[in-house]
Amino acid sequence: MSELLKNPEAIQKATEELDRVMGRDRWVEEKDIVNLPYIEAIVKETMRLHHVAPLLVPLVARDDCRVAGYDILRNTRVVVNVWAIGRDPTKWEKPNEFRPHRFIGKNIDVKGHDFQLLPFGSGRRMCPGYGLGLKVVQSTLANLLHGFEWKLPGDMKTEDLDMDDRFGLTMPRKIPLLVVPSKPRLSLHLYSFE
Ligand code: HEM
Repeated sequence: MSELLKNPEAIQKATEELDRVMGRDRWVEEKDIVNLPYIEAIVKETMRLHHVAPLLVPLVARDDCRVAGYDILRNTRVVVNVWAIGRDPTKWEKPNEFRPHRFIGKNIDVKGHDFQLLPFGSGRRMCPGYGLGLKVVQSTLANLLHGFEWKLPGDMKTEDLDMDDRFGLTMPRKIPLLVVPSKPRLSLHLYSFE
Protein backbone atom coordinates (compact mmCIF):
# COMPACT_ATOMS: atom_id res chain seq x y z
CA MET A 1 0.00 0.00 0.00
CA SER A 2 2.90 2.39 0.75
CA GLU A 3 4.49 1.85 -2.66
CA LEU A 4 1.10 2.21 -4.34
CA LEU A 5 0.34 5.50 -2.58
CA LYS A 6 3.63 6.77 -4.00
CA ASN A 7 2.65 5.45 -7.45
CA PRO A 8 -0.88 6.62 -8.28
CA GLU A 9 -0.50 5.32 -11.86
CA ALA A 10 -0.18 1.80 -10.50
CA ILE A 11 -3.36 2.26 -8.43
CA GLN A 12 -5.13 3.51 -11.54
CA LYS A 13 -4.00 0.49 -13.61
CA ALA A 14 -5.03 -1.88 -10.83
CA THR A 15 -8.48 -0.35 -10.39
CA GLU A 16 -9.04 -0.30 -14.17
CA GLU A 17 -8.26 -4.01 -14.21
CA LEU A 18 -10.56 -4.64 -11.21
CA ASP A 19 -13.43 -2.70 -12.81
CA ARG A 20 -12.99 -4.49 -16.14
CA VAL A 21 -12.72 -8.02 -14.70
CA MET A 22 -14.91 -7.79 -11.58
CA GLY A 23 -17.37 -4.96 -12.20
CA ARG A 24 -18.50 -2.99 -9.14
CA ASP A 25 -21.02 -5.40 -7.73
CA ARG A 26 -18.94 -7.99 -5.89
CA TRP A 27 -15.80 -8.42 -3.78
CA VAL A 28 -12.73 -10.27 -5.10
CA GLU A 29 -12.45 -13.96 -4.25
CA GLU A 30 -9.36 -16.16 -4.39
CA LYS A 31 -10.54 -17.76 -7.64
CA ASP A 32 -10.56 -14.36 -9.36
CA ILE A 33 -6.82 -13.75 -8.88
CA VAL A 34 -5.82 -15.71 -12.03
CA ASN A 35 -7.77 -13.11 -14.01
CA LEU A 36 -6.02 -10.16 -12.31
CA PRO A 37 -2.45 -10.22 -13.68
CA TYR A 38 -1.74 -6.63 -12.68
CA ILE A 39 -2.61 -7.35 -9.03
CA GLU A 40 -0.31 -10.40 -9.21
CA ALA A 41 2.40 -8.17 -10.66
CA ILE A 42 2.02 -5.64 -7.82
CA VAL A 43 2.47 -8.42 -5.26
CA LYS A 44 5.57 -9.77 -7.05
CA GLU A 45 7.08 -6.30 -7.35
CA THR A 46 6.40 -5.66 -3.64
CA MET A 47 8.02 -8.96 -2.70
CA ARG A 48 11.05 -8.11 -4.89
CA LEU A 49 11.66 -4.76 -3.18
CA HIS A 50 10.42 -5.60 0.30
CA HIS A 51 11.26 -9.24 0.95
CA VAL A 52 9.45 -10.46 4.07
CA ALA A 53 12.57 -12.43 5.11
CA PRO A 54 15.54 -10.53 3.56
CA LEU A 55 18.12 -13.25 4.30
CA LEU A 56 15.69 -16.20 4.15
CA VAL A 57 16.40 -18.57 7.05
CA PRO A 58 20.06 -19.60 7.64
CA LEU A 59 20.86 -23.03 6.22
CA VAL A 60 23.69 -25.49 6.96
CA ALA A 61 25.26 -27.70 4.27
CA ARG A 62 24.83 -31.34 5.30
CA ASP A 63 27.55 -32.57 2.91
CA ASP A 64 30.38 -31.09 0.87
CA CYS A 65 28.92 -29.76 -2.35
CA ARG A 66 29.62 -27.48 -5.30
CA VAL A 67 27.13 -24.78 -6.29
CA ALA A 68 27.69 -22.50 -9.27
CA GLY A 69 31.43 -23.20 -9.14
CA TYR A 70 31.77 -22.58 -5.38
CA ASP A 71 32.94 -25.36 -3.08
CA ILE A 72 30.72 -25.42 0.01
CA LEU A 73 32.06 -27.58 2.82
CA ARG A 74 29.96 -29.71 5.11
CA ASN A 75 28.58 -27.71 8.08
CA THR A 76 29.03 -24.36 6.30
CA ARG A 77 26.34 -21.88 7.30
CA VAL A 78 24.72 -20.48 4.15
CA VAL A 79 22.90 -17.15 4.16
CA VAL A 80 21.04 -16.22 0.96
CA ASN A 81 20.70 -12.46 0.57
CA VAL A 82 17.44 -12.23 -1.40
CA TRP A 83 17.21 -8.52 -0.56
CA ALA A 84 20.39 -7.94 -2.62
CA ILE A 85 19.24 -10.30 -5.40
CA GLY A 86 15.98 -8.34 -5.65
CA ARG A 87 17.96 -5.13 -6.24
CA ASP A 88 20.70 -6.55 -8.47
CA PRO A 89 21.04 -4.23 -11.50
CA THR A 90 22.32 -7.12 -13.66
CA LYS A 91 19.01 -8.91 -13.08
CA TRP A 92 16.52 -6.04 -12.90
CA GLU A 93 16.18 -2.86 -14.93
CA LYS A 94 16.01 0.23 -12.69
CA PRO A 95 15.97 -2.07 -9.63
CA ASN A 96 15.13 0.61 -7.05
CA GLU A 97 11.95 1.71 -8.85
CA PHE A 98 8.57 0.21 -8.06
CA ARG A 99 7.38 -0.94 -11.49
CA PRO A 100 4.84 -3.78 -11.38
CA HIS A 101 4.67 -3.67 -15.15
CA ARG A 102 8.07 -5.39 -15.40
CA PHE A 103 6.29 -8.70 -14.64
CA ILE A 104 3.52 -8.38 -17.22
CA GLY A 105 3.97 -10.92 -20.03
CA LYS A 106 6.97 -12.48 -18.20
CA ASN A 107 7.00 -15.97 -16.81
CA ILE A 108 8.77 -15.14 -13.53
CA ASP A 109 7.10 -16.87 -10.58
CA VAL A 110 7.58 -16.66 -6.80
CA LYS A 111 7.51 -20.40 -6.17
CA GLY A 112 11.23 -21.08 -6.11
CA HIS A 113 11.81 -21.74 -9.82
CA ASP A 114 13.21 -18.33 -10.75
CA PHE A 115 16.27 -17.61 -8.66
CA GLN A 116 16.12 -13.84 -9.19
CA LEU A 117 12.90 -13.71 -7.13
CA LEU A 118 12.72 -15.97 -4.06
CA PRO A 119 10.35 -14.43 -1.48
CA PHE A 120 9.50 -17.92 -0.19
CA GLY A 121 12.97 -19.45 -0.64
CA SER A 122 13.48 -22.51 -2.83
CA GLY A 123 14.08 -26.24 -2.63
CA ARG A 124 13.42 -28.54 0.29
CA ARG A 125 13.37 -25.85 2.98
CA MET A 126 11.18 -23.50 0.98
CA CYS A 127 8.19 -22.00 2.81
CA PRO A 128 5.49 -24.70 3.05
CA GLY A 129 2.85 -22.00 3.58
CA TYR A 130 3.51 -20.14 0.31
CA GLY A 131 0.15 -21.05 -1.28
CA LEU A 132 -1.82 -19.73 1.70
CA GLY A 133 0.49 -16.70 2.17
CA LEU A 134 0.27 -15.68 -1.46
CA LYS A 135 -3.51 -16.09 -1.70
CA VAL A 136 -4.12 -14.07 1.47
CA VAL A 137 -1.82 -11.24 0.36
CA GLN A 138 -3.20 -11.11 -3.21
CA SER A 139 -6.88 -11.23 -2.30
CA THR A 140 -6.54 -8.81 0.63
CA LEU A 141 -4.70 -6.26 -1.50
CA ALA A 142 -7.17 -6.72 -4.38
CA ASN A 143 -10.11 -6.06 -2.05
CA LEU A 144 -8.49 -3.02 -0.43
CA LEU A 145 -8.05 -1.49 -3.89
CA HIS A 146 -11.39 -2.70 -5.24
CA GLY A 147 -13.42 -1.55 -2.25
CA PHE A 148 -12.01 1.89 -1.45
CA GLU A 149 -10.19 4.96 -2.63
CA TRP A 150 -7.25 5.61 -0.28
CA LYS A 151 -5.51 8.73 0.96
CA LEU A 152 -2.91 9.74 3.51
CA PRO A 153 -4.22 11.33 6.72
CA GLY A 154 -4.62 15.13 6.95
CA ASP A 155 -2.21 17.12 4.79
CA MET A 156 0.40 14.39 4.68
CA LYS A 157 2.11 14.04 1.27
CA THR A 158 3.54 10.89 -0.28
CA GLU A 159 7.04 12.45 -0.05
CA ASP A 160 6.55 12.47 3.75
CA LEU A 161 6.19 8.68 3.86
CA ASP A 162 9.16 7.15 5.65
CA MET A 163 9.96 4.00 3.66
CA ASP A 164 12.62 2.62 6.05
CA ASP A 165 12.43 -1.01 7.12
CA ARG A 166 13.18 -2.52 10.51
CA PHE A 167 15.81 -5.24 10.05
CA GLY A 168 15.32 -8.68 11.57
CA LEU A 169 14.41 -12.22 10.49
CA THR A 170 11.39 -10.52 8.94
CA MET A 171 11.57 -6.92 7.78
CA PRO A 172 8.41 -4.84 8.30
CA ARG A 173 8.10 -1.07 7.91
CA LYS A 174 9.96 0.84 10.60
CA ILE A 175 6.97 3.15 11.06
CA PRO A 176 3.56 1.52 10.47
CA LEU A 177 1.58 2.95 7.57
CA LEU A 178 -1.47 5.02 8.46
CA VAL A 179 -3.84 5.37 5.53
CA VAL A 180 -7.48 6.42 5.26
CA PRO A 181 -10.20 4.81 3.09
CA SER A 182 -11.63 8.02 1.68
CA LYS A 183 -14.47 6.72 -0.54
CA PRO A 184 -16.23 3.43 -1.21
CA ARG A 185 -15.92 2.22 -4.83
CA LEU A 186 -18.52 -0.58 -4.90
CA SER A 187 -22.31 -0.80 -4.70
CA LEU A 188 -23.25 0.30 -1.18
CA HIS A 189 -25.11 -2.88 -0.19
CA LEU A 190 -21.74 -4.72 -0.28
CA TYR A 191 -20.53 -2.78 2.78
CA SER A 192 -23.02 -4.19 5.25
CA PHE A 193 -21.59 -7.27 6.98
CA GLU A 194 -24.40 -8.41 9.25
C1 HEM B 1 3.44 -13.98 2.37
C2 HEM B 1 3.57 -14.85 3.35
C3 HEM B 1 4.84 -15.64 3.64
C4 HEM B 1 6.14 -15.40 3.26
C5 HEM B 1 6.69 -14.26 2.39
C6 HEM B 1 6.95 -16.49 3.80
C7 HEM B 1 8.33 -16.60 3.62
C8 HEM B 1 9.08 -17.65 4.11
C9 HEM B 1 10.50 -17.79 3.89
C10 HEM B 1 11.39 -16.86 3.07
C11 HEM B 1 10.91 -18.93 4.51
C12 HEM B 1 12.34 -19.51 4.53
C13 HEM B 1 12.56 -20.38 3.29
C14 HEM B 1 14.01 -20.73 3.02
O1 HEM B 1 14.86 -20.60 3.90
O2 HEM B 1 14.33 -21.15 1.88
C15 HEM B 1 9.74 -19.49 5.16
C16 HEM B 1 9.76 -20.65 5.90
C17 HEM B 1 8.65 -21.18 6.52
N1 HEM B 1 7.36 -20.73 6.43
FE1 HEM B 1 6.73 -19.07 5.41
N2 HEM B 1 6.13 -17.34 4.48
C18 HEM B 1 4.84 -16.88 4.40
C19 HEM B 1 3.71 -17.47 4.91
C20 HEM B 1 3.70 -18.65 5.63
C21 HEM B 1 2.50 -19.29 6.13
C22 HEM B 1 1.07 -18.77 5.88
C23 HEM B 1 2.92 -20.40 6.82
C24 HEM B 1 2.12 -21.45 7.54
C25 HEM B 1 0.82 -21.60 7.44
C26 HEM B 1 4.38 -20.46 6.75
C27 HEM B 1 5.18 -21.42 7.33
C28 HEM B 1 6.54 -21.53 7.18
C29 HEM B 1 7.36 -22.59 7.81
C30 HEM B 1 6.89 -23.71 8.73
C31 HEM B 1 8.68 -22.36 7.38
C32 HEM B 1 9.95 -23.20 7.75
C33 HEM B 1 10.17 -24.28 6.71
C34 HEM B 1 11.46 -25.08 6.93
O3 HEM B 1 12.43 -24.54 7.47
O4 HEM B 1 11.50 -26.27 6.56
N3 HEM B 1 4.81 -19.38 6.02
N4 HEM B 1 8.65 -18.72 4.89
